[in-house]
Amino acid sequence: MAWWPETEEDLNSPRQNEYEYVKEVLDYGWHNTRSPGVNMRLEQAFAEKFGLKYAISHNSGTGTMHSCLMAAGIGPGDEVIVPPLTAAATAYVVIHQNAVPVFADLDPETFNIDPACIRDLITPYTKAIIPVALYGLSPDMDAIMQIAHEHDLVVIEDCAECFLGEYKGRLVGTIGDMGSFSFQGSKHMTCGDGGIVITDSAQYAKGVRWGMAFAFSSLAAESAPTTAPPKEIRQDPAFARHLALGWNYRLPEIAAAAALGQLERLDDLVSWRRAVAAGYAEVIQDCEWLVAQKVPDDYLHSYWCYTVLLDTDEITWHQFRDKVVEFGGEPIYGAWRPIYLEPAFQEERFYGKGCPNHCPLYEGTPQEYEPGLCPVTEKIQPRLLQFRTNYIRPRAQRQYDAVSKAIAHFEGKS
Ligand SMILES: Cc1ncc(COP(=O)(O)O)c(C=O)c1O
Repeated sequence: MAWWPETEEDLNSPRQNEYEYVKEVLDYGWHNTRSPGVNMRLEQAFAEKFGLKYAISHNSGTGTMHSCLMAAGIGPGDEVIVPPLTAAATAYVVIHQNAVPVFADLDPETFNIDPACIRDLITPYTKAIIPVALYGLSPDMDAIMQIAHEHDLVVIEDCAECFLGEYKGRLVGTIGDMGSFSFQGSKHMTCGDGGIVITDSAQYAKGVRWGMAFAFSSLAAESAPTTAPPKEIRQDPAFARHLALGWNYRLPEIAAAAALGQLERLDDLVSWRRAVAAGYAEVIQDCEWLVAQKVPDDYLHSYWCYTVLLDTDEITWHQFRDKVVEFGGEPIYGAWRPIYLEPAFQEERFYGKGCPNHCPLYEGTPQEYEPGLCPVTEKIQPRLLQFRTNYIRPRAQRQYDAVSKAIAHFEGKS
């Protein structure tokens, strides 16, 4: 049976390992050039859990993707295909590399990026695709990998919202060239903020690790405790430390300690979300105008949240949300605006010199981030309701009751 805490105390009680590892870091003390190696343990355990060779921890699930782009050599003049319905991070990192985000529309039933739309957008400048496992559901990875193979594109899976989701028996994040996860506070496993990249490629692993920490010459593809070269070398004014450009996306050891404890009970944390989602599915099963995100056969959803489409013109999004609250439920989130309709994109408030879209190094057709760009997305996004799945049992029950009463109300049964 799924782990499903009854009380806030139950929610917190299995945290002994998190406390123990955090204490270990504190007891070790703060040092500049050495550490108790918790990041290394986290990376090794994460790579093992997902069955890949390499994992590289970061301080966010944004930094992870930025490092992936760098490792893949994406830069000025390149195009990267992304979905429009995702956290801004997915498109922002492309711009931070001075590459052009190109938005591919969604499948109206799974709400995930539509491979047919990706195919239509390929140009000689396309270099990568970042498919997002939206809300915890894999996109159609076979179709995406086929396109990538045909056009020699790098695939970076954005799995910030998808831990232990499966696509045709394979773990989401292990199918593309690199998989990126977030440990931000709302995610299946968290340490407040953080993230990790997994890959089977030594070349990408090294590139990602360089992106993570200033391309220090001491870094390799493999996980290692924080160590610096001997003092005679690093104190020498002639010491060449930096092999390329890189950022500081290091995950502090103390956060890695909490993440390691969470990773050890990831199965429970995911099965809990699935159990909460199953409750929502039961509540809406007979309602024709609330349509859940479609889970195709052979996919296993990990339910970062349970998302439904309000598929009727009779009831507005706000009316439904307000009614749920009126019946004692908690307010429901709407979906993010399509990213290209955010003011940052509408007014191209990027680096202020027209880049990346009007960059002299970009020879493609400048993207027009205007309404109408992705019609399916624009149709469904305003009508999506995202139900939280990290509720203790009585809270979930209250939410189910409120949703159930709201449905009955609108169907004239109450
Ligand atoms: C799909 C998606 N991608 C990327 C991110 C960015 O992760 P982070 O907040 O850890 O930077 C998030 C969430 O925050 C996300 O939901």
